[in-house]
Amino acid sequence: MNLNNNDITENIKKRIGGNRLAYVRSFGCQLNVSDSEKIKGLLKKMGFGFTENENNADIIVLNTCAVRENAEDRVFGIVGSMKKLKEKNPSLIIAIAGCMTAQEHIAEKIKKSYPQVDIVVGTSAINSLPKLMLDCLDGQKFSADIKEYDDFSEAVEQVRESSFKASVPIMFGCNNFCTYCIVPYVRGRERSRKPEDIISEVRQLVSEGYKEIMLLGQNVNSYGNDLSSDINFPKLLRMINDIQGDFWIRFMSSHPKDASEELIDTIFECEKVAKHLHLPVQSGSNEILKKMNRNYTAEKYLSIVEYIRKKDPEFSLTTDIIVGFPNESESDFRATLDIMNKVKYDNIYSFIYSRRSGTKAAEIQDSTDEKTKGGRMRELLNLQRNISTEHYKRFIGKTLRVLADGKAKKSDGYLTGKSSEFIIVEFEGDESLIGQFVDVKITEAMNWAVKGVIN
Ligand code: SAH
Ligand code: SF4
Ligand code: F3S
Repeated sequence: MNLNNNDITENIKKRIGGNRLAYVRSFGCQLNVSDSEKIKGLLKKMGFGFTENENNADIIVLNTCAVRENAEDRVFGIVGSMKKLKEKNPSLIIAIAGCMTAQEHIAEKIKKSYPQVDIVVGTSAINSLPKLMLDCLDGQKFSADIKEYDDFSEAVEQVRESSFKASVPIMFGCNNFCTYCIVPYVRGRERSRKPEDIISEVRQLVSEGYKEIMLLGQNVNSYGNDLSSDINFPKLLRMINDIQGDFWIRFMSSHPKDASEELIDTIFECEKVAKHLHLPVQSGSNEILKKMNRNYTAEKYLSIVEYIRKKDPEFSLTTDIIVGFPNESESDFRATLDIMNKVKYDNIYSFIYSRRSGTKAAEIQDSTDEKTKGGRMRELLNLQRNISTEHYKRFIGKTLRVLADGKAKKSDGYLTGKSSEFIIVEFEGDESLIGQFVDVKITEAMNWAVKGVIN
């Protein structure tokens, strides 16, 4: 099917004519956004331009996420409301892509209950979009049910969201099967891209002026395990660090069970690797960590933090936390607050547990009520706000290197950006600095960011 994608693309281009617009929207993680950039690349080749307004679109692609129920509900709501758009414009094509479609019951629900939808593209089968579109133009809906993981061909151009920050997936899928998580079911097993393909993509991006390269994988620490060559993630980081140019390297996510000393040494030794580590802890309770199948204890996690903080006591860490895993007790929850107090994260991404059917945790009879979970979430967020505000004070008087990102929302004349430490920094500056590195001397710590002046 992929062999004649070019012919299919040309065929579609002829049939749809010029001036056609596509609306592509992401609902998920950075990998999902990266997939949308590839979808846009395919659509561009077919002759589509892009719009931010679905009312003007000739094709709508919703790139979905299945990680929590509310992400799915949002998509169903939006697809429902698109019935009207389809009535107004019967030639409008509506395609649903992404992780939701990899769940059989969801794909069936979409096909049965939402007749306005024309195409369902399975996760990691983006390459089949042209074929599905051609079939759709021929009046055939849902022509293929793609279940294999047809990872994206290395050759297709992407339409990137930013001209200075780029995501580069280094691997797809996940082998970890954390008991709450749907990702291994919708993304399949780990598949690493070849180091030479990654290096040449990064080289190209740097030559185009990209300043931040974000390496993506569900657990970057297992990068290369499936490749025959003698490569691992720290080695890959060193190879990318050797590429000439002024740019930063970031990566996500790093599973604590395989966050090695080699990885940490590499972060410190490579000048281009940003001085921040996102290390998802999920819970501070050993009992819950075991039930989550995370394969580390709070003590093991803290020993990694200790290894890092011995090298730099102020090193910036962020994390993911799940509140209300089935039957999480008050003391389990206290253990999570306890680890937050010990580590002092600069930021946390916290989520109330969402039951995902098909996962192991979904089978557990949960006796904790939603109100208790909501209360715990509020308490956790309060604690983190205090920790951040207090912890950000360590930057006052220091100069941070910041990649200017855009205009600050509330203050006129101010720009916002992230420092190497992944801290939001606001400072007065001209718009022409957006996309550039600037040195900012920090003068003030707020509870969600720091403020400073250009040095
Ligand atoms: N591979 C990454 C996580 C990807 S999902 C990692 O292991 O770090 C991003 C975050 O979503 C997870 O870290 C977890 O905190 C959260 N998450 C995943 N499944 C969830 C669920 N069923 N309910 C609530 N949060 C969940
Ligand atoms: Fe999900 Fe765990 Fe894999 Fe992360 S490591 S994607 S949380 S199964
Ligand atoms: Fe990402 Fe959501 Fe899929 S978090 S991998 S888009 S389930």
